[in-house]
Amino acid sequence: MVLAGGLGTRLLPMTRVTNKHLLPVYDRPMIFYPLQQLAAAGIDDILVVTGGDHAGDFLKLLRNGQDFGLEHLRYAYQEGEGGIAAALGLAEHFAAGEPIVVILGDNIFQDSLGEAVAQFRANPHGATVFLKSVSDPERFGVATVEGDRVVRIVEKPDRPETDLAVTGCYMYDARVFDVVRGLTPSGRDELEITDVNSRYIEWGELRHVELQGWWTDAGTVTSLQRAADLVAADRGNRILAGQIDLGQAGGN
Ligand code: DAU
Repeated sequence: MVLAGGLGTRLLPMTRVTNKHLLPVYDRPMIFYPLQQLAAAGIDDILVVTGGDHAGDFLKLLRNGQDFGLEHLRYAYQEGEGGIAAALGLAEHFAAGEPIVVILGDNIFQDSLGEAVAQFRANPHGATVFLKSVSDPERFGVATVEGDRVVRIVEKPDRPETDLAVTGCYMYDARVFDVVRGLTPSGRDELEITDVNSRYIEWGELRHVELQGWWTDAGTVTSLQRAADLVAADRGNRILAGQIDLGQAGGN
């Protein structure tokens, strides 16, 4: 599933008239990147969760997913912006007891996540997060790893223990919906994905993969520009290019 709700207040005034995930990152709308990533990982049943005043524009843009080689797309509407975990909770009916891959609509990954997805499919127990060493960990969930285990994740710490950001792709077994039901809102009045991941840590069932390629979010003015620069500099990348032929629409 792709999570594209929230208000995008860090990108005002652009997000006054559209949804953050419809803004361009180099040559295509932001949400194309996470969709391309899931499709490239062989996931062909995808739920897009969005909300706010511009939800209808997603249907116009993405239609039935043909740009991504999909036969269909599903959509859900998030009332308000109760947090990433609240948006995830909307997928319970969609998941129907199966494990689920979650990707945030403003996250762009250079590398394919396909191998990790295949491994999780083969052994869909517990949860898996993707970590990336970054220079500004205080902006993210930050993981502490001991040996091959994640022992702690702290959401946007003032003093990060490590530089390992928890990126916006997560894989969960079917118990995740019980975990979401048991959450209480955080200080920013959201159901936090970090609290979901912390529950799997308590169970000793959180696995992790460290990313080799670059990763960025695109939810602030600075990171949106950075995302466009990274994508532009990596035009031959099959994951970033997806299946779309922009030859006619693009040009110089
Ligand atoms: O980018 C990775 C980071 O994403 C993680 O390191 C953090 O642990 C995680 O909490 C999250 O941090 P942010 O505060 O940057 O998340 P943000 O509120 O920007 O939301 C990220 C995406 O999640 C957004 O593009 C759309 C989706 N979302 C968010 C909220 C709050 C929803 O679909 N619904 C929501 O209610």
